[in-house]
Amino acid sequence: MRVNKKKYQSIWTDGENRIFIIDQTLLPYSFRELELKTADDAAKAISLMQVRGAPLIGVTAAFGIYLASCEDNSDENLHAAKKALIKTRPTAINLKWAVEQMVDKLLKLETSKRNKAAFDLAKEFEEKDILINQKIGNNGFEVIKKIYARKKDTVNILTHCNAGWLATVDRGTATAPIYKARDMGIPLHVWVDETRPRNQGSQLTAWELKNEEIDHTIIPDNTGGHLMQRQMVDVVITGSDRTTYTGDVCNKIGTYLKALAAFDNNVPFYVALPTSTIDWDIDDGKNIIIEERDEDEIHFIKGLNDNSEVVNLRITPEGSKGSNFAFDVTPSKLVAGLITENGICLPNENDIRKTNA
Ligand code: MRU
Repeated sequence: MRVNKKKYQSIWTDGENRIFIIDQTLLPYSFRELELKTADDAAKAISLMQVRGAPLIGVTAAFGIYLASCEDNSDENLHAAKKALIKTRPTAINLKWAVEQMVDKLLKLETSKRNKAAFDLAKEFEEKDILINQKIGNNGFEVIKKIYARKKDTVNILTHCNAGWLATVDRGTATAPIYKARDMGIPLHVWVDETRPRNQGSQLTAWELKNEEIDHTIIPDNTGGHLMQRQMVDVVITGSDRTTYTGDVCNKIGTYLKALAAFDNNVPFYVALPTSTIDWDIDDGKNIIIEERDEDEIHFIKGLNDNSEVVNLRITPEGSKGSNFAFDVTPSKLVAGLITENGICLPNENDIRKTNA
């Protein structure tokens, strides 16, 4: 996607197999590329959220295994790297999915072949992610196209958090249908939930959409319900960190409240996700592990001061406690459809298996 009109991916390699990411903790105030040199760098990038978003975490972890293999390609070290990477963030299943496949395949090879194979495999995850998102875009586009055919006016889409290209390798999941619709000439406007406490919406999604010149408006997290009551939202599209094979969707905290408001106002609530986000072992979203993060993310907020310096400000009284659940679960009954690379399916076991298994 574009940054100041130049094409970028959120993770990429150069001709010498070096791995680079964009440090997302600095956006939108500064744009900095960062090289991942060790497996530990990859693990830190994930836990510090320099990279975030389920698909991108998975691809970064795959490259983390490659880096671990270059450091020491013994069985013991690959097992240790797998454990360390999986521990970084517990909710997005793509992380475990990618790391387990990498290590399972590498363990079957003799050590002299592991480093090259690890790079090729990680590269495959990277390249596939882009293709998958293009397909999600094509499938989700049909939803937007139908709304436009009926409405014949600007389609208003609400999204929560960042399920954009910064959360994947390119194009995003929830944003892929938006980019496709823009390319096809459909007039669009995106309501961007700010997404407290880390503000992935106002800091990342808005930055992406601005760079892509897509009309958008940032709204406080509490605003969506009001807009839906006034028919100012035609469709909600979010991403997912883990979706059960029965259709319960775990995504950024606050997604559930948007789904409730959408349900009450007959606004279709769609979730765009690659099949790697489906957890085939869990049948009830209540059993998904929800990451709890440091309460300082609630007490402090980052922004620019009058001298254009990035500062961290305390916004709560000292001594008040904060509770920081990073994700919540939207029950399948509130979901209109799951947009995957294989098509759009209903959020039930039958349809999910028929479309994706
Ligand atoms: O905590 P984050 O920023 O990693 O959370 C990201 C989300 O919740 C996204 O919506 C989800 O990972 C889907 S990304 C295509």
